[in-house]
Amino acid sequence: PVLYVLNGPNLNLLGVREPHIYGRETLADVQAICERAAEGATVVFRQSNREGELIDWVQEARTEASALVLNPAGYGHTSIALLDALKALTIPVVECHLSNPAAREDFRAHSYVSLAATGIVSGFGAHSYELAVQAALRLARERSA
Ligand code: DQA
Repeated sequence: PVLYVLNGPNLNLLGVREPHIYGRETLADVQAICERAAEGATVVFRQSNREGELIDWVQEARTEASALVLNPAGYGHTSIALLDALKALTIPVVECHLSNPAAREDFRAHSYVSLAATGIVSGFGAHSYELAVQAALRLARERSA
């Protein structure tokens, strides 16, 4: 199976950005964690600070991926367009967050992305990605069985 792992704005600064919230691991470390968790499945791992680029990649995942892990970062709280792109998918979608947004500021409690997510993993730092990749792989395999 091919797994898309897409990362939204500011996650390129992982490791230096608010490390008390997001941890010391860099995005490269997170990529390595995802590749290890994928157990030989192909991982397409990308990050963008641009909403439109993320939407293009979600559209690409429609035909190229068997599951999607998405950390929408700030766009999860704001982007109806990203939600609409996700709604066009038939593959499983796992929403993933390093922090637990529900335990933070009120404006983080709502996620548009959650409306289109099969499931959500949040609050475990970089380990959230490991769990999200495992869940996405399992869902992809169940569907192809
Ligand atoms: C985040 C949580 C979001 O609220 C925030 O805007 C981010 C990162 C997380 O991984 O914890 O940029 O998605």
